This record gives sequence, C-alpha cells and structure tokens, in this order.
Amino acid sequence: MSEDEHKIKCDIGGEEIRHLGTIRQLERYDFVPDSFAIYDGADTDAGAICEVCLPVYQKARAEVYLFDEVAVREQVRLRIARADFVTTSRREHAEETLIPFLLEALRKKGYFDEYDVRMIQSFFERGINIGEFKNSGKLVGGIDLAGAAKCLREEERTFKFVKALFGRIDELDGKRDSVIEVVDAGCGPYPLWGVFAALKSEKVRSTCLELNPASADMARKIIANLGLEDRVEIVEADATEYKHGREIDLLVSETMYSGFLQEPLPYILINLTPQVAQDGYVIPQWAAVEAGLVRSERARKPRWFLPENFDLGPMEVVRFVRGKFDEVVRFEITLTGIEPGNYNLALGLRAGLSEDVVLEGLDSAITIPHLIPTQIDVQRGDTLLKVSYAVGVEDTDLNIEKV
Ligand SMILES: C[S@@+](CC[C@H](N)C(=O)[O-])C[C@H]1O[C@@H](n2cnc3c(N)ncnc32)[C@H](O)[C@@H]1O
Repeated sequence: MSEDEHKIKCDIGGEEIRHLGTIRQLERYDFVPDSFAIYDGADTDAGAICEVCLPVYQKARAEVYLFDEVAVREQVRLRIARADFVTTSRREHAEETLIPFLLEALRKKGYFDEYDVRMIQSFFERGINIGEFKNSGKLVGGIDLAGAAKCLREEERTFKFVKALFGRIDELDGKRDSVIEVVDAGCGPYPLWGVFAALKSEKVRSTCLELNPASADMARKIIANLGLEDRVEIVEADATEYKHGREIDLLVSETMYSGFLQEPLPYILINLTPQVAQDGYVIPQWAAVEAGLVRSERARKPRWFLPENFDLGPMEVVRFVRGKFDEVVRFEITLTGIEPGNYNLALGLRAGLSEDVVLEGLDSAITIPHLIPTQIDVQRGDTLLKVSYAVGVEDTDLNIEKV
C-alpha cells in the first residue's frame, strides 16, 4: 500500500486531514496530545469530515428529523454528496459567523481590537496550509504573500475599510435591483473586501484582482472554502491594465502607502475609475499627501515620525479626488518660517474612504508620516522647497530642489 493511501481524506470535500479528532475537539481547537498541532478533522457517523466541511455535516444533521439512526445517516449522506448543498452550507456558515460579528463591531463597538482581526484571519484560514501557497508562482510585482497577509492585522485600517465598504453596499442595495458589481483591486491572500461585500448583500458579484500568483492561489482556495465560488472570482491580473468588461458599481483598492510611495493606487484608479458607473463608488474617493519637515538630528530610525513632533507641518500638499488621480506628485513647501539647519522631509497620507470614514495619521502603517532619507540643508535666504516624484517610487527617488 502506498503512503498516500494511509492519508485521511475528508468524506465531503476530499481535503487531506492531518489530525482526526472528535467534533468537540475540532470545535474547541484542541491540541493533539504531545504536539503543537490542533485537530483539523472529526470522525463522524458520516465519515471523516475536515474543519471546513464540519458546518456542512452539521447542517445536514440538523435538517433530518427521523428516529431511525440508519435512516438519518442515509439522509445525511445524500445531502453531503450534493455539491450545491456543500456550497450553500459553507456560505451560510460564513455569513452567519462573519456578518453579525462585523455589524456588532461597526454599530456597537466602533472599532476592531487585536482579537477581532485575529478571529477574521483564523476564519479565513480554516483548511488553508499557508506553506503550500508561499512559493507558488514567481512574484511579478506587488507584494509577496507574507507582506500582504500582514495588512489584515492592522485593526484600524481593516475596521475603516469595512465601515466604508458596508456603507456603500447598503447604498447600492437601495439603488440596484439585481447585480451589484464589486471590484477589489489588489486583494492579497485574504480577499477581505470581495468576501465581505458578497456576504453582506446577495446581489453582490465580486471580482478580486491580484498580481501575485501565490496570493491569488490562496485567495481562490479561501473563496472555495467559504462557498463563494459562484459569487466571488479571483483574477490574476495587473489592476493598472485590467478591463472589467462590465460597468463597476463599487471599486475598492487598498494599494496605498504614505506619500503615494511604493504602492500603485493612483495608477490603479486611473485605469479602473473610468469603468465605474456614474452613480457608483470608489474607495478611496479621495487621497491626500501630507508633508512636513523634521530636524535631521531627530529624524532617526524607524522611518516614520509622529505628526505632532514636526518642526514644520504636517500640511496637506496634494489632494487627488475621484477621476483626477495623477501619476506624479508635485508640491512646494515655503521655508521662510523655519530656522536654518538640516532637515528631512516626512510624507504621510490621508484617505477619504467615504464621506464619513477617513484613514489618517497614526491609524495605520500606510498613513503614518514616512521619513525621506535625503537631508535638506536649509540656509538663510532659502524660500521654497520644490518636490516632485512619480507615484509608487521608493523614498530614495524623489526630486527635491531648494529655491
Ligand atoms: C497592501 S495589500 C492589501 C491586501 C488586501 N486587499 C487587504 O487590504 O488586506 C495590496 C495587494 O495588492 C497587490 N497588488 C499590488 N499592485 C497590484 C496590481 N498592479 N495589480 C493587482 N494587484 C496588485 C499586492 O500584491 C498585494 O497583495
């Protein structure tokens, strides 16, 4: 017998189960004795069931009201053998788990804490072996899987995106009779916005674009696990060039960084915003660069700086609004108000995710002011600092000129 034949497979989805326990052990995330592993499958009267398929089995059992155990088992088996039953049960479970949880945070609590984002992450990761995806496909741009995965854990960022997203989906629900076409440009390995949108409204069809093949593969597997394959599509594509082919109702993209450095948001919005319906929405609907100067002796590592400690600013120097995002950031700072000396420029970001949701300052690593390494020697008589750079460049590639 080959080694493969000893492996336990889930009787519903065929997934490999490494540690088979009881339903209770699986539900409680119990540790396997003498190991740091936790159970990922349960031995049931319908066979071995993996963690992703447990809700499918439980739904089938809950639906069958018979006294005869043999007949019950027979009915359960019939249900779990149906692909549509499996998909629906997975999706309903995702909806019942995530939507009330997100609404509670939005309407009552008003924020996510570390445990909330960890809960979202572990829900998305059920049945996922990240090691399997890490090396799949060559990185052709964007961010690697591990780098993009970390974003979810930025509580304030994730909370504000969910808040803006749910607000827009509610508005579109009132405006659209049938389909709400959502595009998430740069979905990473956890396709959060496409999934949340699809679970929030039955009308939503999401398309999640991702450049990095490893992240796209993992996102695809998550969509299957959540029973959303017919509602959420993961497309491996460059969002700066992608043509959707249908009018988009809601475009969302979290591909930004302080000063519009390193990340491609403006290029993505330049390409995709013209594909959004007139009465559709873009998240973010505007984004602004904030700039300031910090005395060089205080501008040490780490490469970010608290806004309240600036020697000049921070002040808004560039604002891009819907339909008017540009490929170049260009601004001037008046130097007449500061003492001569060596300074470093620091660039932050504010993003209007919707009318009432603004991501800014210390909210996240993508908005906090970033220190530019070039030292600027301000002398008496210098009046103006002229700065220009292409969006997406590294912090060493800015044109900084004194006048
Ligand atoms: C900052 S992560 C955000 C991931 C996820 N949307 C979130 O908010 O948690 C940005 C993702 O966009 C992807 N990306 C960057 N440029 C892209 C492009 N031009 N087209 C498609 N995806 C891109 C990166 O590979 C990365 O996975």
